[in-house]
Amino acid sequence: MSLGIGVLGCGSVFAGPYAGMIDRLHAHGRVHVAAVYDVDDRKRRGAAGRYDVEPDLAGPGALISRDDVDVVLVLTSMNEHGPLSRAALEAGKHVLVEKPLATSLEEASALVELAKTAPGLLVCAPHVLLSPTFRAIHACVREGRIGRLLSGRARYGWAGPWWADWFYRPGGGSLFDLGVYNVTTLCALFGPARRVTAMVGTAIPERDVSGRVIPVEADDNAHVLLDFGDARFAVVSTGFTMQRYRSPAVELYGSEGTAQLLGDDWAPEGWELWRNEEASWRLMPEADPHWQWTDGLRHLVDCVEAGVPTATRPEHALHALEIMLAAQAAGRDGVARQIRTGFPEPVYDGAMLAAEEAHRSHDRRSHDGI
Ligand SMILES: NC(=O)c1ccc[n+]([C@@H]2O[C@H](COP(=O)([O-])OP(=O)(O)OC[C@H]3O[C@@H](n4cnc5c(N)ncnc54)[C@H](O)[C@@H]3O)[C@@H](O)[C@H]2O)c1
Repeated sequence: MSLGIGVLGCGSVFAGPYAGMIDRLHAHGRVHVAAVYDVDDRKRRGAAGRYDVEPDLAGPGALISRDDVDVVLVLTSMNEHGPLSRAALEAGKHVLVEKPLATSLEEASALVELAKTAPGLLVCAPHVLLSPTFRAIHACVREGRIGRLLSGRARYGWAGPWWADWFYRPGGGSLFDLGVYNVTTLCALFGPARRVTAMVGTAIPERDVSGRVIPVEADDNAHVLLDFGDARFAVVSTGFTMQRYRSPAVELYGSEGTAQLLGDDWAPEGWELWRNEEASWRLMPEADPHWQWTDGLRHLVDCVEAGVPTATRPEHALHALEIMLAAQAAGRDGVARQIRTGFPEPVYDGAMLAAEEAHRSHDRRSHDGI
C-alpha cells in the first residue's frame, strides 16, 4: 500500500532533497504526496502543482486532519517544528521532523512523551545514524576494536544560508542547524553526555539574505565541549564561519586505536581505522556513495510497512537539543551545565534490517531498490 505523505513547509530542504527521496519511493509504489502546505502562497502552489494536489489548503491543520495523509513531514523553519509535530502525532499520523525536533526543552520533552503512546512513529532528523558508514564505525566501536573510547572531535560548518533570515534569528543559529549533526553522531558513539560547556557567539554581525542585509541575532560560531564521564571528552566545532575544509568529520580516539569518518557525517566519504595491534591505517571506501541524508524518510516508510520500531529514537534528538541549549547558555555565562536526559542505544536489529533489505537492490550503482 502506498503511504500518503503530507508536506508541511515547501522550502529549500523540501524542493530538492526530500522531493528527491519522495520521488524515489514513489517510483516503487511506496508513497505518494497527498497534500502540501506552506504559509508562502508561491511555494505552496508550486509544490501543489508539482504533485497535482489541492493548492489552497486553509492551514497546517487542514493537512494534518486529512484521512489520506498517513505521514506528515515537518520541514518548516525551526520554531514551528514542535507545535506542528505535536498536532500531527495527536492526530494519529506518523511524523518526520527536521532538526531540531523543537526549540525549547519543554516542548521537545512533551513531544517525546507523546510519541511513547501515540499510534504513529516519530522520526527526528538528522538521520546520520542510518548511513552505512556510521553503522560500520558504530559496530567497530561497540566491538571494542579501538579499545575504550576516550576522546573525540567532530566538525561541520559552511559559509551559511542566504535564502531565509530565520536561520539568523532566535530559534535558528549554527548549533541547531549544523552542530546538531555532530552532537547526534558523537553521542551515538560515546553514549549520553553528562556535562557541557562551550564558546558560542556571533562572529559576523550582519548577513546578506536574498539581497537584504539583516542583523544576526543567533549564534554563527561554536565550539562545544562534551563530558561523557570518567574523563572521556569530545569537542564539536561548528559555524556559519567555515568556507572549506579537508579534515575528517569525526575523529574517535580509543585506548587501542583510532577511527575517522571522512567527508561529513551527513555525507560520509568512507572511513579510516588504525589499530595498534595491526600497526597500520586501513581505508574503508564509502560503502554506499548514493546514500542520502534524507534517508530518515525511507527508514520511516520501512518501519511503518514492517510494523517495527525505528532504529533512531526521539529521545536521542531530545538529548541533542538539551546539549545545544546548554551550550548556548554556557556560551553566555561561561558556566558548565549538567545534562539530565539520556537515550537508548541505537539498535540496528534483525527486524529493521530485514525491512530495509527487502527493498534494497543489490546493484548499488542504480540504488533503485528503495
Ligand atoms: N536547506 C537545507 O539544505 C537543509 C538541510 C537539512 C536540514 N534542513 C532543515 O530543514 C528545515 C527547513 O529548512 P529550509 O532550508 O528548507 O528552510 P526554508 O526557509 O527554505 O523553508 C521553510 C519553509 O517553511 C515554511 N513555513 C514556515 N512556517 C510554516 C508553517 N507554520 N506551516 C507551513 N509552512 C511554514 C516557510 O514559508 C518556508 O517556505 C530546517 O529545520 C532546516 O534546519 C535544511
